Amino acid sequence: MRRKIVAGNWKMYKTPAEAVSLVTEILRVAPPRNDRDVVVCPPFTALSRVSQLLKGSPVKLGAQNVCWEKEGAYTGEISAPMLRELGCEYVIVGHSERRQYFREDDALIAKKLKAVLAEHMKPILCVGERLEEREGGRTNEVLASQTKGALGEFDATQVRGLVVAYEPVWAIGTGKTATSQMAVEAHQFIRQLLAEMFGAGLAGETRIQYGGSVKPENAAELLREPEIDGALVGGASLKADSFLRIVHAG
Ligand code: PGA
Repeated sequence: MRRKIVAGNWKMYKTPAEAVSLVTEILRVAPPRNDRDVVVCPPFTALSRVSQLLKGSPVKLGAQNVCWEKEGAYTGEISAPMLRELGCEYVIVGHSERRQYFREDDALIAKKLKAVLAEHMKPILCVGERLEEREGGRTNEVLASQTKGALGEFDATQVRGLVVAYEPVWAIGTGKTATSQMAVEAHQFIRQLLAEMFGAGLAGETRIQYGGSVKPENAAELLREPEIDGALVGGASLKADSFLRIVHAG
């Protein structure tokens, strides 16, 4: 049985002070259930303070992005060792907003994955098709090329602990959720790809989250599916109440 993982992707929301109140609220309102991993991914500027608050709690820390290099003259960038030292266990890599607005391609995403894995953190690799790709019947083709493009150079031992987030781009921030049937089909397809690339063992243990307008209202239906190993939550993770209702759903 794969342990479900619910992660909050805060995106570019919350100043450090606001992050402190949100996390305080999350920790105060309800103890997260202990059969699931719960992760918050604040902006870089709030990681240090949130990390202090999470010490001794079951909630884990994640970052939203990382540089592929360990250190160097890369103005404005943050490296994996820096995130590791702050207590990050997870790093989101290849989010569709980074692919779209920051021109991240599969080759760059692969380098970032390598940097995260080298620091023994767990990448949350985001893949997902755009609306025109789904409508054109190209969903699987896109998922295959993103998955192979990002993971093609690794072997099974290196990617142990990897989390994949299936996030159809048309469902992110739009209020349109994929039906659980669509999500299950995509997850099965991704798992099959992982099996071909890394063997059935690794494919069977790799967690695949669904992301895209996950809300308290639809979380239970999604999380009840054995094939859906959790959720990557954007908008609804910005309030303690809705985030915790998702954490407890299903
Ligand atoms: P959303 O974002 O829940 O606001 O749709 C999900 C994500 O981008 O990870």
